[in-house]
Amino acid sequence: VTRLCVPIFVHTEEQARRDIALAAEHGADLVELRIDSFGDDDAVARLIASSTIAVLVTCRRSGEGGHCDLPDDERIERLRRAVRAGATWVDVELASVVDHPHELSSLGAPVILSAHDFEGRPPRLWSLVEQMTALPAQVNKLAWRARSVRDNLEAFELLLNRPRPAVALCMGEAGQISRLLARKFGAFLTFASLDDDSATAPGQPTIEQLKRLYRWDAQRPETRVYGVVGSPVAHSLSPAIHNDAFDHLGFDGVYVPLLVEPGYESFKAFAESFVEFAPLNLRGLSVTIPHKENALRWLQHRGGAVDPLAERIGAVNTIVIDRRDDGAVRSLRGFSSDYDAILDTITDALQIDRTSLASCHAILLGAGGTGRTATAALASCGADVTIANRTFDRAAALASEFDGTPGYVRAVDWSELDVSKADLLINTTPIGMHPHVGACPLDERQLASLHRCRLVFDTIYNPLRTRLVEHAERLGLRSVGGIEMFVRQAAAQFSAWTGKPAALDRMRNVVETSLSRQRHPR
Ligand SMILES: NC(=O)c1ccc[n+]([C@@H]2O[C@H](COP(=O)([O-])OP(=O)(O)OC[C@H]3O[C@@H](n4cnc5c(N)ncnc54)[C@H](OP(=O)(O)O)[C@@H]3O)[C@@H](O)[C@H]2O)c1
Repeated sequence: VTRLCVPIFVHTEEQARRDIALAAEHGADLVELRIDSFGDDDAVARLIASSTIAVLVTCRRSGEGGHCDLPDDERIERLRRAVRAGATWVDVELASVVDHPHELSSLGAPVILSAHDFEGRPPRLWSLVEQMTALPAQVNKLAWRARSVRDNLEAFELLLNRPRPAVALCMGEAGQISRLLARKFGAFLTFASLDDDSATAPGQPTIEQLKRLYRWDAQRPETRVYGVVGSPVAHSLSPAIHNDAFDHLGFDGVYVPLLVEPGYESFKAFAESFVEFAPLNLRGLSVTIPHKENALRWLQHRGGAVDPLAERIGAVNTIVIDRRDDGAVRSLRGFSSDYDAILDTITDALQIDRTSLASCHAILLGAGGTGRTATAALASCGADVTIANRTFDRAAALASEFDGTPGYVRAVDWSELDVSKADLLINTTPIGMHPHVGACPLDERQLASLHRCRLVFDTIYNPLRTRLVEHAERLGLRSVGGIEMFVRQAAAQFSAWTGKPAALDRMRNVVETSLSRQRHPR
């Protein structure tokens, strides 16, 4: 089983003792004591002796991500002292022993032989593994800066083809899944920090994220993988929602963030390699900005089944990957769960069915991606839609594209917007979104004329109650925030992947909790 290792930079004996205790309390299997900036070997010996969990000791040289300028033989002597004090493992860089490998056998404890590249993939990666394996150590550790998310696949291949226990990590945000999925691929260990500030390498998750958010303890080689593809993705709430839902259902899946640089070519290169890499068992993707159009284009290129409405909108936010028992791809399917999420949010709030939307007059603020989906969705139900957008031409183009499908769609100039006849008001602009929470897309006069509006729907979910929603409530109008749309689109994805209904209330809770944590980081 892959060990969970918390790296601890030793600054003082007291601080390190506290951190070791915290790591043990959080469920770490071992700690890595980084002693490169701490020269008191007696204190190191006391820390090792008092630790309740196994200790790996590392004295990293400068130039390989460390801070120690001692010559190799003196650094190795420090490790020897740590072994005499009871260290379970020591880490030695390949570069430190390549000319005197006998040092390794003289250490007296199992050795993790390591090589790091902070620029990118080492040029002769597989030869490096051979070179390491020829030396008397117990574990090979390779870490390099991910050039793109695709580098993770090579790290997984290194683990699958390991000649002896191994660690293969890609640094940086794009490389994060090499850490999150290390257990699935049988790594010797993965690193996790105590908190966001104590991470010793870019992309390193916290132990709490790994265990609670990324289902560490449930990961097995067969575990199905899902992910959100976008740029940026670091603050996406989707991993929290889906992993919690997998947990709740007892479903053997894990959901991770996948940072893919903008542009069709990067999406295509990512999708081809990840979908074809059978051991990953990738079963589904959520697609977010800026890749929804790219996902549609790629599915069309691959001959995947694309829902006609997604084709009409020109965007796919969900991909379902069906595989045969041998892991080969049987089929690919894409659709937009935003479409149903928008309609369901409205009909659930008003307690009506979709056919009743035919008699509604909807005013839509914004003509971007969400505005487009809302226009297509409402027009398809026969609603009468008026679009107002900062850039009038964009609203006009959208209106002419969806007018008569079958709803009546037109554009108005923002300055001439009259909301007094609206049954439905939907904001799809980011006005009022965190951190500009004081902003509202309508002025006092417009708000006052909203009296006959049956529903004010703000698609923004951060904050949960925008200024627009607050104003609507004050006027006694029914209102909903973007969280309702967000959880419904996630629920539709979950059902498409698992074949089971999602617990909407639970998903809503997860979003609320995650948002309050993001606003009040501990
Ligand atoms: N609840 C959910 O699940 C969910 C999902 C996706 C998005 N959303 C929300 O929808 C919003 C828009 O997302 P999107 O993907 O549609 O973005 P988008 O494609 O970039 O479109 C943004 C739209 O808002 C307009 N706009 C932007 N800044 C403005 C400003 N300062 N004043 C007036 N108009 C402005 C833009 O007008 P121009 O055409 O003039 O640029 C454009 O029409 C986001 O803020 C997000 O909160 C919610």
